[in-house]
Amino acid sequence: MRKIEALNILKSLITNAYAPYSSFTVSAIVEGENGEYAGGVNVENASYGLTVCAERIALFNFISNGFKKPIRLFLYAPTENFTPPCGACRQVLSEFNPDMEIVIFNKDENFKTYELGELIPLCFNKSNLEGRK
Ligand code: THU
Repeated sequence: MRKIEALNILKSLITNAYAPYSSFTVSAIVEGENGEYAGGVNVENASYGLTVCAERIALFNFISNGFKKPIRLFLYAPTENFTPPCGACRQVLSEFNPDMEIVIFNKDENFKTYELGELIPLCFNKSNLEGRK
């Protein structure tokens, strides 16, 4: 998907974010190998720790739709800084593709691109379970 298209979708999606406690809204799109994609926003809870980030919701929507291999995550938060995925989301994203590309937009509609592997080197994965008794 082209970045301009992703940004337009992200800007529309973010209006669905449910962030009454932090007032920090985030939207995300997970894209697959053939242009298929799913979106998500952060959904907070009065029991704060039950909040789920936009990235994980987008990924779970992607997988729930029957799509298999995510190749790219687009992320948007309307702040000056480039909001990176939190540690928990990095781990969850790495389950499906540790080489995923991460494209982060800020409020000025600039972007920065990373590889998931550089954001979470040496993450725990399936192969670590192979040594169990
Ligand atoms: N949040 C995300 O959705 N993604 C991130 O990458 C960082 C944080 C959400 C969780 C919470 O609803 C709010 O932003 C403030 O932490």
